[in-house]
Amino acid sequence: MATAVALAATGLTLAPVAGASTLPYQDPALPVAQRVADLLSRMSLDEKIGQMTQAERAKVSPADVTAYRLGSILSGGGSAPAPNTAAGWADMYDTFQRGALATPLGIPMIYGSDAVHGHNNVVGATIFPHNIGLGATRDPGLAERIGRATAEEVTGTGVDWTFSPCLCVARNDRWGRTYESFGEKPELATQMSSIVTGYQGTTLGGPASVLATAKHYLGDGGTTNGTDQGNTQLSEAELRAIHLPPFVEAIRKGVGSIMISYSSWNGQKLHGNRYLITDLLKNELGFTGFVVSDWNGIDQIDGAPGFTGAEVAQAINAGIDMVMAPDGWQSFITLLRGEVQAGRVPMSRIDDANRRILTKKFELGLFERPLADRSYAGTLGSAAHRELAREAVAKSQVLLKNGGALPLRTNSRIFVAGRNADNIGNQSGGWTVSWQGGSGNTTPGTTILQGIRNTVGSAGTVTYSLNGSGIDSSYDVAVAVVGETPYAEGQGDRPTGMGLDATDLNTITTLRAAGVPVVVVLVSGRPLDIAAQVPNWNSLVAAWLPGTEGQGVADVLFAVRQPTGKLPVTWMQSASQQPINDGDGKPALFPYGYGLSYGSPAPDTTAPTAPTNLRATVNGTSATLTWSPSTDEVGVREYVVHELAGTSDTVYGRTATPSLTVTGLVPGVSRQFFVVAADAAGNTSPASTTVVVQAAGVDPTPTPTQGTATCQVSYATNDWGAGFSATITVRNSGTAALSGWTLRFAFPDAGQRVTQGWSATWSQSGTAVTATNAAWNGSLPAGASVGLGFNGTYSGTNPRPASFTLNGAPCTTG
Ligand code: BGC
Ligand code: BGC
Repeated sequence: MATAVALAATGLTLAPVAGASTLPYQDPALPVAQRVADLLSRMSLDEKIGQMTQAERAKVSPADVTAYRLGSILSGGGSAPAPNTAAGWADMYDTFQRGALATPLGIPMIYGSDAVHGHNNVVGATIFPHNIGLGATRDPGLAERIGRATAEEVTGTGVDWTFSPCLCVARNDRWGRTYESFGEKPELATQMSSIVTGYQGTTLGGPASVLATAKHYLGDGGTTNGTDQGNTQLSEAELRAIHLPPFVEAIRKGVGSIMISYSSWNGQKLHGNRYLITDLLKNELGFTGFVVSDWNGIDQIDGAPGFTGAEVAQAINAGIDMVMAPDGWQSFITLLRGEVQAGRVPMSRIDDANRRILTKKFELGLFERPLADRSYAGTLGSAAHRELAREAVAKSQVLLKNGGALPLRTNSRIFVAGRNADNIGNQSGGWTVSWQGGSGNTTPGTTILQGIRNTVGSAGTVTYSLNGSGIDSSYDVAVAVVGETPYAEGQGDRPTGMGLDATDLNTITTLRAAGVPVVVVLVSGRPLDIAAQVPNWNSLVAAWLPGTEGQGVADVLFAVRQPTGKLPVTWMQSASQQPINDGDGKPALFPYGYGLSYGSPAPDTTAPTAPTNLRATVNGTSATLTWSPSTDEVGVREYVVHELAGTSDTVYGRTATPSLTVTGLVPGVSRQFFVVAADAAGNTSPASTTVVVQAAGVDPTPTPTQGTATCQVSYATNDWGAGFSATITVRNSGTAALSGWTLRFAFPDAGQRVTQGWSATWSQSGTAVTATNAAWNGSLPAGASVGLGFNGTYSGTNPRPASFTLNGAPCTTG
């Protein structure tokens, strides 16, 4: 070692020798950028092309890795060494890695695999709920902890890189990858991208740090009819609004790689889309990691089987840095070399791709620690990780109906049936040990039935039969665990019916015939078309695809843990409604955000946010008002459009969707409207800004007053115990005198109440508070102020309201 350092200090250029720390790129003390630049300067074209190539483990030998200078190997779904154990994987990994280290420059390969709900290709790994279940937990911290646990299991097998998370926003439940999505709204995948931090750790190269992949960029969940690998037909604004936000957040969290989607955007394959990959992702969003293609994805660019030089050039020039060419890797190498030599792929693009890939390899510490870190092997399927999975399963359960049969009591006679009751493979779904997943004892775990038996112990009786036969009226309750059986990409698309099949329906019929209450536990990757049957079921729980820890389902059935999951998707009334999503106005069986609890239902105290962007489009004597939807944790029930007339306002109309037409406009007479959102519990949002409309022909352009603050509010409280008094000063900071005024604001906390007010007429509805001038202080000249106040009570905290409006116009505060 001392000799090596001394030699490096002389500045002599040596022929690199594998294993000798003599060259700048081999010096961990130097900044990564310097090491990358040094290494790049030593690489031949073939070495650079090798770095950009990813082959499948079963289609490549360690000798190939050396000869072709391959930069990466992957395990496809279910592709595992024998024995499929942590040690078997680590041995395989090290063998490939030694092949890479045997090259003249000794650049380590990076090994990737789909650890998408735990390290699911490995028998014995902890299998966590698929993403749709995690979305139901609404718990980003939990997702991060799952990422950490998974990274430890992955690290113990040598694997450096997971093709996860899928940040897909599934908009049509017919899509067979819906369960890989955290839910139908971009904010869910955005929040749950915390799993990236779990996988990678706070910094790449830290303990058990595994490179994460945000996939599939972009619009994979938005294809027409939910067809896998299909065509996402959206305007750019919609594409950006629905599908981009989770990627923006993952980049902010430092995600190391991004995988391109098989799908097309308005007919153009993503794999060849330079605008979305280079201009948007790399340039506009500033993504500095590397872009990997999906499995043979570049072969789909021209629609004909087999890579062509044109496809390779288009993909690389579009901005793909590493190509997943599972078995066609040799032809990819030959074609890319030809394209570079012919000048159709510039060297600058090859260097950029290499810089990106090598940067991540250095950051991960692969040059210093190229071999598997077997010290983590013991974490695979460890008790601690299974306990975490059990917690996640329990938190993902969504109670959709309860006629009183839940929670189950341990000292009762319980009959359990259904093909997903005692089947680890079925409850784990696709991407479990094999690509499409499979039924049966595919990996160790606790089935839902075993979880029920564990909970009951000797306190009561649990009887099981697959199809329900043997039940009689002596049982207190029957639990039918039914739903879907495993599937993954392609095979999981359901273009026609989305209901339970005859086997499941027959099982339930048999149980019902005994006359005991039936609890249905749906094990499925998405909502199913069950509206016709739900009235016959006493209780219903959506269990999603929980993975190996079925005990978590039993925990909720017996109220060992309370049900807290909320729907991450809108539950259809009928398959014909697909696609159905929150805010589209289609009536749901269970709305987005729905989820019951056992106790007296926890009061919903959170008000929707104020509608924004209120606009009017005038057409003759009518005008269509539109606005941006409010958000609310259980969904907005309706929007109430108010018309302002002088000091008072009247309800003009109500609508479930963010649009309403106003009729009967009279030329020359302007009218003012604003909108308030309400949820099912009656909580109302603060008012939107107002919009002014006039009949066309006089002033066809509506004059929006939104955004112009014409008032100024100061709000101070004096708090004691659970009471307080608030003093408010309102100043008319506009240029017009007001004859009559109404001040509106919303309390941030549902426990805050006005008990008695002065200098105005006070009213409160939900959290929304209204104060209308008293008879003696209605006239408020420009620049003048008025003082008012109230006594109130609060429970918990007493935060001050965030915003105020005066006669519908927003106020500045302070
Ligand atoms: C592989 C999967 C891959 C799929 C793509 C399968 O054979 O195992 O990993 O995603 O092919 O078609
Ligand atoms: C899937 C990807 C996956 C890859 C490797 C593809 O078919 O679309 O999600 O990461 O195979 O298995």
